[in-house]
Order: sequence, then C-alpha cells, then structure tokens
Amino acid sequence: MAQTFETVGVVGLGTMGAGIAEVFARSGRRVIGVEADDVALERGRGHLERSTGRAVAKGKLTEDAQREILGRVTLTTSRADLADADLVIEAIPEIMEFKRVLFADLDRVCKPSAVLATNTSSLSVTAIAAGTSRPGRVIGMHFFNPAPVMKLVEVIHTVVTDDGLADDIAALARSLGKTPITAGDRAGFVVNRLLLGYLNHACVLLEAGVAGRDDIDAAMKLGVGLPMGPFTLLDLIGLDTSYEVCEVLFRETRDRRHAPAPVLRELVTAGLLGRKTGRGFYSYGEVAPATPEARQAASVSTVGIVGGGPEAATLATAVERAGFKPVVAESADLTPVGDADVVLALSDRPVVELAVRLPHPERLAGLHLVGDGVAEVASTVLTSPETTAAVHDLVQILDRTPVMCGDRAEFVVNALLYAYLNDAVRMLESGYASAGDIDTGMRLGCGYPAGPLEMLDAIGLEAVRDGLRALYAEYREPAFAPVPLLDQLVTAGVRSIREYAG
Ligand code: CAA
Repeated sequence: MAQTFETVGVVGLGTMGAGIAEVFARSGRRVIGVEADDVALERGRGHLERSTGRAVAKGKLTEDAQREILGRVTLTTSRADLADADLVIEAIPEIMEFKRVLFADLDRVCKPSAVLATNTSSLSVTAIAAGTSRPGRVIGMHFFNPAPVMKLVEVIHTVVTDDGLADDIAALARSLGKTPITAGDRAGFVVNRLLLGYLNHACVLLEAGVAGRDDIDAAMKLGVGLPMGPFTLLDLIGLDTSYEVCEVLFRETRDRRHAPAPVLRELVTAGLLGRKTGRGFYSYGEVAPATPEARQAASVSTVGIVGGGPEAATLATAVERAGFKPVVAESADLTPVGDADVVLALSDRPVVELAVRLPHPERLAGLHLVGDGVAEVASTVLTSPETTAAVHDLVQILDRTPVMCGDRAEFVVNALLYAYLNDAVRMLESGYASAGDIDTGMRLGCGYPAGPLEMLDAIGLEAVRDGLRALYAEYREPAFAPVPLLDQLVTAGVRSIREYAG
C-alpha cells in the first residue's frame, strides 16, 4: 500500500521552503518547519503569514481556515524535532556541501522508514543520497516558485531509489493538488534544463545590446503570452539560484548556452539577487519607471512598406487609417519606397541589406509583427535615431507594443523562442523525457500557455527549422543548429512532432 506521509518536515523556510510547508499544511498534514536560528525562523513565519494572508485578503481563504493552516505548522530550530516525520523535504541553499551535511544529520535523526527528499533545483540527487545510510529512501521532490500556485512537482529518482518510492511520492504530489512528472537525475531535470537555457539566453541578448530589459520582457510576455518576461522571472527565482543552476547545467552539458551570462555573476556578486533582496534586474518598490530619453521623431507623412502578401497589405491599410500615406514595395525592387519618410521592412531577418539599396538608408527599420499585440522594431547600424523614434511612435499609433531591438537574425522573440524549442527537441531526441512530460512540465511548472512541443507544432516545424538555421548562420552558436530530429522530421514531411513522438 502507498505511504501516506502524515507528518512532514521542511528544512529551510525561505521562499520555497515556506511555500512547500504551506502546501502540505493546506492538505491537512502536520508540518514541522525547521530553520537554523530564531531570526531565520521568524522570517519563515513571516513568509507563511503573508502568503496565507494574501489568500485571505483575496477572499480565497477565511481567517479561521488560515488559523487552522498555520496551526498545523510547528516551527523549530531543532532538527531533533523531526524524529517522528514520515517525510522530510530539504529546501536550503543550493550548496552541495551544506546539503550533504544536512542529509547526514537527517539520516541520524529521522526514523529508518522516513523518506528524505530534496527540493534541489539542479544538484545531483544521487550524490545527496549517497551520503546517507538509506540511499534508497532519498528522492527529489522539486516544487516551483511560488509553490502554493504552480501545479507541477518533478519527482527525481536515482539508480538506487527503492522500487515504488517514486510512485508513492507522485501519489503524494497528486494528493496536494499537484501534477507530478517523473524524471531521472540529470542536471536541471526537465524544466530547469529548458527554462534556464532560455533565461540565460535573454541575459546574453541584453549584454550584447540586441535589446533592453523592458523590451525583452515585453516581447516574451506580450508577444508569446508567457506569464512573465525573462528578467521578471529571473528576479522571482533569485539570481543566485539562477546562476547556480546554470553553473551546474554547464558543468554537465558543457553547452555554452548554459554558461552563466556575466551579468548574472555581476549582479550576484553585488548582492542584487532579485525580489528577495529588493533589487535584481528591477528595483522593487520602484515608484515610477525611469523616463526614457526624449528623442525627436522624424516628421512623417509617407510610410514605405517593404514586403509582399497579406501582411504588407494589412499594414498598409492600418497605416492609411492612421492618417499616413502608405507606399508598398517588394524587396526585389525598392524604387517605390525610395523617397518615403520612413521605410518599414517586414522581416524577421536582418534588414541592413535592404537599407543599403535605398537612397536614404537611415530611414529604414525592420518590422516584425508578433501576434496581435507586439511589433519588433529593428534598427540597423544605419538607421537614424529620428527614424527609430518615428517607427516607435507609429507602432504605438497602430495599437501595438513596440519592442526596440538590433538588426540581428530572428530579432528577439524568435531568437529566444526557437532556441528554446530546439532544446526541447534535443531533450526528446535524447530519450530523457517524453513529449507529454516536457509539455506538461513547462505548462504547469512555469505557467506557459503551451508546452514547447505544442508550440513547435503550432508555429510549424519547417518555420522553426529555418529560423534556427538563420540563427546559427548569424551567431555560429552550436546550440542553435537545428537538432537532427527536427531537420529529419521536416525532410520527411512530418507536420506534428507530438504525433511523431506518440
Ligand atoms: N505566494 C503565494 N501565492 C501567490 C504568490 C506568492 N508568492 N504570487 C502570486 N500568488 C497567487 C495569487 O494570490 C493569485 O492567486 P488566486 O488566483 O488564487 O487569487 C495567483 O497567484 C495569481 O497571482 P496574481 O494575480 O497576483 O499575479 P499573476 O497573475 O501575475 O500571477 C504568477 C503570478 C502565478 C507568479 C505568474 O506570474 C506566473 O505563473 N509566473 C511564472 C512563474 C514561474 O515560472 N515559476 C517557476 C520558476 S522556476 C522554479 O521555481 C524552479 C527552480 O528551481 C528555479
């Protein structure tokens, strides 16, 4: 019969630990929360009170129910109080030495039947298990931030995990209202292995000056429909944790995509760790965003549009409706737009080669419409600041959020998205996780509107493959080269990777 785990210990009551304690207490279980000292314990109590208080304020929980939940949690600084726990979950900082010392201690204190679980984001569960006398009863139980909200739990088993234990922990996760996916012990498991590569890539684009923080965040939130842009999410996860996960991933994969971007190291060294310290990529409590530098927009009456098909025609209609005179040209012959005040080249590829063919190259910017709400505006090295400002304003008049970026292959959205989709295909191809688990992981772990393989099917395998080829040609980054499986599916005329994967 499956174990029920009535009494649960949680060691470490930071953001994650306190969230995990809340989840167990909400399920009716008795929780013993352990912290190193009284100060940390009080901080943990604060997390628990604030998180449940937020639910009370929103009318999702009565004050009585809040009292009951908090009443189920005993807070202590003594690990000896875990002697009766059926399960103990560790949520302390991501430092292997600390974890091994803690697990040796738990091994001594806890009853022999107790399961010892780690909420590590990326460290080796096998290495943690090996330091105890009960490696078969040590497992990974990985929650996502904020733990009370995100529906996913990754259950990580090792080569020495007792038969049936992963199933028991998965059943436990279900009893908490979560959806489990089970994975082997590889750095980053399923979700962080995909997520952190993408978040780190956003840092690399920022550092390369391809686009700014707010533009990249807006691009991914409004353009792709993710719940948060990458920098907002990095601040939520914590830059120290993010750095550490990248580091561990890089150590295992040796993939430059995982090598932590220098800006992460710099912020971590400066103690700017994100929300928890009040400042990371953003400052919290920031009253008003800094006023952007005032730029004089070019005075515009004629708008040139380079591109064919319905997108150019629709844009021309919108431009006309906004009170400007549109002139459309195909890229083969740019003569009609030669005298336009600004020229919008519809493209997701670099447009500087079009600019140099115009009599006024400084008047051209690339424009990539993303979904219904976003337009990426790519300025080339020749685009004048007046043109950039005019296109920015024009895009707003057209009721879209402008994302200002440099003239690089796939600009921002597709550069970040396609590389991430490629990583997901690589994971599928390696046999490490099933298509269903990959999609469920990203949907429920990160609140994405769809999993990567679902997104790939929706965008089209060929479009993504071609975009990746363009990215590779531009950056020569091996991780951008289309994974052989993707290439072969396109060649074979397969339209759905999910159907192919069964
Ligand atoms: N604690 C508890 N509850 C919280 C919370 C918190 N810190 N933040 C938000 N919530 C709750 C709110 O109370 C609200 O609940 P109800 O729907 O019951 O009212 C709900 O979440 C939505 O909150 P808001 O409306 O205030 O805000 P939102 O719509 O912007 O959603 C969010 C906030 C749920 C965090 C959403 O932005 C989101 O899903 N973001 C993505 C988060 C993510 O990717 N997490 C995974 C990170 S990776 C990780 O954690 C693993 C690792 O090892 C690094």
